[in-house]
Amino acid sequence: MREIHPFNDNWHFWTDFESDLIYNPGQGQSVRLPHNAADLPYNYFDETSWHQSYCYQKIFAYDGKYDHQVNTILFEGVMANTKVYLNGHHLLTHTDGYTPFEASINSYLKVGDNLLTVVLDGSENPEIPPFGGLIDYLTYAGIYRDVWFKSVPKVSIGEVKAEPQNVLEEQKSLRIWCRLNGTDNCGSKIEMTHILRDSEGHVVAETNSEVSGEESTIQLVGLKKISLWDVENPNLYELTTSISVDSHEDTVKTNIGFRTAEFTSKGFMLNGKPLKILGLNRHQAYPYEGYAMGRRAQEKDAEILKFDLGCNLVRTSHYPQSPWFLDHCDRIGLLVFEEIPGWQHIGGTQWKQRTIENVEKMIRRDWNHPSIILWGVRINESQDDHDFYLETNSLSRKLDSTRQTGGVRYITDSEFLEDVYTMNDFIQGMEELPGVNHPQIPLRKQRDVTGLNRSVPYLVTEFNGHTFPTKRTDHEQRQAEHVTRYLNILDKAYGDDEISGCIGWCFADYNTHKDFGAGDRICHHGVMDMFRNPKFASYAYTSQKSPQLQAVLKPVTYWARGERNIGGVLPLIILTNCDYVELRYGSDLSTIEYPNRERFPNLPHPPVIFDHKSFGEEEMGHWKKEWENVTFKGYVGDEEVISYSMVGNPVADRMEVVPDWRWLKSEENDETRIVVKALDQIGNTLPHFDDPLSISVSENGQLIGPDMINFRGGIATFWVRSTNKKGQFKINLKTPRFSNASCLLHVI
Ligand code: GAL
Repeated sequence: MREIHPFNDNWHFWTDFESDLIYNPGQGQSVRLPHNAADLPYNYFDETSWHQSYCYQKIFAYDGKYDHQVNTILFEGVMANTKVYLNGHHLLTHTDGYTPFEASINSYLKVGDNLLTVVLDGSENPEIPPFGGLIDYLTYAGIYRDVWFKSVPKVSIGEVKAEPQNVLEEQKSLRIWCRLNGTDNCGSKIEMTHILRDSEGHVVAETNSEVSGEESTIQLVGLKKISLWDVENPNLYELTTSISVDSHEDTVKTNIGFRTAEFTSKGFMLNGKPLKILGLNRHQAYPYEGYAMGRRAQEKDAEILKFDLGCNLVRTSHYPQSPWFLDHCDRIGLLVFEEIPGWQHIGGTQWKQRTIENVEKMIRRDWNHPSIILWGVRINESQDDHDFYLETNSLSRKLDSTRQTGGVRYITDSEFLEDVYTMNDFIQGMEELPGVNHPQIPLRKQRDVTGLNRSVPYLVTEFNGHTFPTKRTDHEQRQAEHVTRYLNILDKAYGDDEISGCIGWCFADYNTHKDFGAGDRICHHGVMDMFRNPKFASYAYTSQKSPQLQAVLKPVTYWARGERNIGGVLPLIILTNCDYVELRYGSDLSTIEYPNRERFPNLPHPPVIFDHKSFGEEEMGHWKKEWENVTFKGYVGDEEVISYSMVGNPVADRMEVVPDWRWLKSEENDETRIVVKALDQIGNTLPHFDDPLSISVSENGQLIGPDMINFRGGIATFWVRSTNKKGQFKINLKTPRFSNASCLLHVI
């Protein structure tokens, strides 16, 4: 029987170690995985401080129970150049920091205590992609994803690839390819079963056959009443594959979805219907912990992208991301463009070979995810390299003929070897470059980019980013400009049938090298800050949702007379999906505005913009008197669906503590984000409130990051983590201004 157990507990960690440790256990610091090897302050740190080797060790007892099986330790992701040893014997070396690997332990596993040692190298080894040049993100050393103990029978299921076919016909089929391990010396019959179940567990189809040899392909045909997977109804089916050999069984479950996904020269089609891609790029990094956040945090990011921001796609820039994240994208209906590790630089022969291996490892790991609709098989923003990219493309097509390839570039007229021309179009920001005289356009026409004389499948994979970095705490006018730039581009993408959609740079701010960002080791490029708190620009996305899903109304203002240059709040952008918005200022000024379709003709929901023309002369006079309260009311049809008020005299009134979850699990590194807001008298966040906050977390809980932080723009955010102790823990919060607050979390 197959058994897979978490192997994350009771590790020991050394920052400084002798090679003797590989053979002899030491004490070290007790840690639980996933784990970030280096202390990581919020900003202004030395990003070379973890460019060194680290060692992790685990002593585990073994009682001989699995002697008749094949036993491995499965690592989901370790950064990087990892060497694994068991009882002092070298088991393997795995260079890549983003793909999983299995260390086979049978040869050296003994009854009694065993010593597993992992040595990794946090330096940016130029022989390993993405390294070798400069990269605009950090790669954090450590065993930063889960580790599992895996035991399978001698003959076992190695890989399953399930490809839905005839998806748009009434009777669908499923082609199941399977690779078995250990068949070499197996003289016995191998019985193979595939059972397909719907989300309620009802059997939809079943097949039984006898197979021999390593590979087999079976077709389930005539599948009826199958619900398609799409972004609104992400219907998943479970395929259970079992083999039985000499009364030993092995079973693997795979989640799949029936859908077609195709980029055409006239846009993207999901299940044969056009869908404009509305996406954001995501780095898998978090403050203080780098890459080492567990399942819940990964899933939360997918939820923020899909439900808070209303995106339908995420690009895993610039590497394969956590399986937890991708599984959740499948479950919630968030499309994924996944790509290999790399950034602008192409290395030598060995480096390229490793990249080709990365293409293979990414696709083999992830080919069953219905959410993944495109493989990125170029090094992000690299130059053309005919032979290299011919090979990555043909390998991708050979491994997975159901998905198209893309390869993200920023150069125009680049050789088109992929199926989709994927382009980072930063043209809107370029007019600010001295000496560059670009017309003020948000996005180029595809032929101006591709240089081809025909239309091809085309997707904008980045925009904005470094051309207009904006902090969540920046001045209101800059934020309004940030918002406008997003709106311009989304509008353009919605209006051009030859653009499949656009993916903004980026989801959340991220730590980076000194060569990029604002000098503080942060690229403030997100529509959210590093803590996933929204900037105004995030509502450019959110407001494109249907009002039936959620009514949105977000005025792009801090509502103060003197925040902007010269003063006042006009023109005032309201990001909304309402049919019209009423503004009531003080007691006697009220006016209505409609979405500005003249300026944004293509957006599903253009913003409402109040400007001087929205008010009569006498009305404008009111603005000159005492600064007053405002209320915005949003209407759909004749019904008021949302209202938002701001006061003219905000005072610091209280703090509000909002945990994403109150229940955490003890059996894994389980984290919840805690958002603490400084509020005014009517419950709005105070946008310039920067007081200190001291945090203490009682036993059973662990604070991630420092225990003394500041509110930044009215919000202080941190994560807490469960330990392996069940019970409760309390977070106590103190500020100089407000009454103390606390928050109780449960660990089960
Ligand atoms: C792009 C690059 C991204 C990020 C972005 C900043 O050129 O692909 O990784 O650096 O610029 O705008």
